[in-house]
Amino acid sequence: METIYEKTATSPVNIAVIKYWGKRDTTLILPTNASLSVTLSQDHLHSKTTIRASPDFEKTRLWLNGVEDVDIEKNKRLQNCFRETRRLRKEYEEKLRKDKGPDKVLPLSEYNLHICSENNFPTAAGLASSASGFACLVYTLSQLYELPISAAELSKIARQGSGSACRSLFGGFVAWEMGSKDDGSDSQAVEIAPRDHWPELEALICIVSDAKKGVSSTEGMQNTVNTSTLLQHRIEHVVPVRMKNMIDAIHERDFQKFAEITMQDSNQFHAVCLDTFPPIFYLNDVSRAIIRMITEYNSTNSEKKLKAAYTFDAGPNAVIYTTSENIPEIINLIAKYFPGNDDVKNYFSDPFQLFVGKT
Ligand code: PMV
Repeated sequence: METIYEKTATSPVNIAVIKYWGKRDTTLILPTNASLSVTLSQDHLHSKTTIRASPDFEKTRLWLNGVEDVDIEKNKRLQNCFRETRRLRKEYEEKLRKDKGPDKVLPLSEYNLHICSENNFPTAAGLASSASGFACLVYTLSQLYELPISAAELSKIARQGSGSACRSLFGGFVAWEMGSKDDGSDSQAVEIAPRDHWPELEALICIVSDAKKGVSSTEGMQNTVNTSTLLQHRIEHVVPVRMKNMIDAIHERDFQKFAEITMQDSNQFHAVCLDTFPPIFYLNDVSRAIIRMITEYNSTNSEKKLKAAYTFDAGPNAVIYTTSENIPEIINLIAKYFPGNDDVKNYFSDPFQLFVGKT
């Protein structure tokens, strides 16, 4: 009979309000600027990973959404995560051997793994699937290996799978400190505030298209680093100020400030994409219609306040941040601007229901 050790875990998606775009070290995945995100509820969007380890497995295998088509040996990011977690497990086994005796320790670090990972939302469509996916891989490995390690330390490993994954190791409001060391030992995620610090803040996800994006973030961001002059301005003069102001806005639960910076930063991220040569387009006509809809909503309401903020990652799908009292109004707006969509009805009964915009 086979001996199998198994762990399952889920990880949430995070949506950046100050975007990460550009690496200063492509192997260790060290960013050219700090970033900040909100981790969404796991009830709606998540990655779920089951990892089994066994002395009887002949090789390590990975199924993503039920399909085994990733070449693990050639995938450096996966190898980084396996290597780093195995190294820590080895150290831990040595310690346990000393403390408890050699025959009391499972040599899990020597076993091959079978990994099944699933996303309950479109993969690689600019909805941070790599963030929740790599965070989940690393977290599940740490659980399987029973690693005595903090979330911040774990975030440095997840970062080497996919940069934005480091932020999904925490709930609530999370910064990825870019760090200054060449070895990446200070480039990690930290919690700015827990989720219950600002319970009224809500995220509405508008799926405009569930097609895989044309230019991957890996390829796109390095083209931007190599060709965009606007990116240099962003790195040196814009992001450091925005990070500070955004952290203040979150601490003060100041939606005006939060919304303004969120929209400005999304705009600038897509501007550096356009400033890349050749240019990268992630937004489509529906994305731009959503921007216009939110802009109009913010400028025509009777209080003359910013009541909603859009943000877009490397794809056309929108995330709208708002506060709970505005949700019915925004849903009505979406129903008006993008009619004929059944999911809008569902939305009323569940504030986090996905809304599918018509393309
Ligand atoms: O972690 P990556 O390589 O998938 O890059 C993600 C980059 C953005 O989603 C566009 C921005 C961000 O900070 O999440």
